[in-house]
Amino acid sequence: MGNNSLTITDNRTGVIYEVPIEEGTVRAMDLRAIRTGESDFGLMSYDPGFANTASTRSSITYVDGEKGILRYRGYPIEELAERADFLETAYLVIFGTLPDEVQLAAWRSEIGGHSLLHMNIQNLVSTFRYDAHPMSVFISSVASLSTIYPDSRRVTDPENRRLQVERVIAKVASIAACAYRHNQGFAFNRPDASLSYIGNFLNMMFRMGEGRYEPHPVLERALNVLFVLHADHEQNCSTTAMRVIGSAHGDPYSALAGAAAALYGPLHGAANEAVLRQLEAIGTPERVPAYIDKVKRGECRLMGFGHRVYTNYDPRCRIIKRIAEEVFEITGRSLLLDVALELERVALADEYFISRRLYPNVDFYSGLIYRAMDLPASLFTVMFAVPRCCGWLAHWLEAFDDAEQKIMRPRQIYSGVSERRMG
Ligand code: CMC
Repeated sequence: MGNNSLTITDNRTGVIYEVPIEEGTVRAMDLRAIRTGESDFGLMSYDPGFANTASTRSSITYVDGEKGILRYRGYPIEELAERADFLETAYLVIFGTLPDEVQLAAWRSEIGGHSLLHMNIQNLVSTFRYDAHPMSVFISSVASLSTIYPDSRRVTDPENRRLQVERVIAKVASIAACAYRHNQGFAFNRPDASLSYIGNFLNMMFRMGEGRYEPHPVLERALNVLFVLHADHEQNCSTTAMRVIGSAHGDPYSALAGAAAALYGPLHGAANEAVLRQLEAIGTPERVPAYIDKVKRGECRLMGFGHRVYTNYDPRCRIIKRIAEEVFEITGRSLLLDVALELERVALADEYFISRRLYPNVDFYSGLIYRAMDLPASLFTVMFAVPRCCGWLAHWLEAFDDAEQKIMRPRQIYSGVSERRMG
């Protein structure tokens, strides 16, 4: 083992162990050999929130939280946001390389061919209450796709997995649009395969009447960038949920519904909705200092701030801030942007946030763009979930090709009563 090892002295027994270090990690199973005797189960690591545990190898997304670096398959996020469209990015994230012209044309046509939703799913969306949260509608409808495609249970067949991937990328956009239209009380729009993925998404959301929908190029570009930025973010809460559920080899729609349910939490993807509600509650830039005091007293969290991994800045936030300015040039500037800018300015100068290394994250400005597009706040997390499906699928696929992956089943430290009797 040489220098690439860790020497551990167990002070309970005086025994010395040498544990190999590979790629900056020790294997948790190597700790099992550290025991006080025959009846001892062996040492485990305790890591609530998996704050320092690598659960997998992955070649999809690289994040350096200290330096604020994010790359998909090696490409910097800044370059992809500038030059790639969402379907190219999805192909890259899922299959590992950017598509050549032929592959891209085939990919676009496969996705286009799957975008029509089965009537049962459209009917299902229609049955939800008019004020049902669109994210609840999205989760339930994605799960229900498994009733339409029972073949999706054949997860050990690589060709079948590929078919489900194409279906998902197409149908989640259609489901999201239906969830929005139902929320607004409008009839569902048919997809238009002659438009780009983003253009068609805008068409399914916003087309009124029968004419051909022409997406506004600035809004189409802004949404494309937002989708590229949200495509993947390695082992976060929802991706881990996808991997955990996927590890039991159920169908991908059920696993995706579970991942989307994780995203729905306000500490994760629903933070974008919470940010907007927070900005509305603050109302004006003058009221920002009082709100910051409330956060510092522990009465609430500053939504859209803080990240488990990024401790200097979130590179996605910088790009979104720039895109927001472009969008506001055509939609008009909103007072909420001034509140957000003031909130950021005050927080970044405050010792509470500096000492805890809390910076704006991806969710801080994205909601302002969605609001400028006239979307209700309740739809924001759905707008996160649609592009993130590509990341969830990439991780789901990767696990099948990883011989070390098995059903996920962590350990616990039992802290209950050891044994008792009734009566
Ligand atoms: N506002 C105020 N204080 C905060 C915040 C915040 N947004 N985030 C963390 N802290 C404080 C926290 O109270 C704690 O302070 P102390 O040490 O005095 O107890 C310290 O910072 C460390 O916080 P933590 O909860 O241990 O950090 P974490 O890594 O477990 O949580 C987080 C990360 C993102 C859940 C958290 O920062 C948070 O709740 N942020 C607000 C919600 C949010 O914006 N979520 C979106 C995350 S990015 C996109 C995504 O994942 O979908």
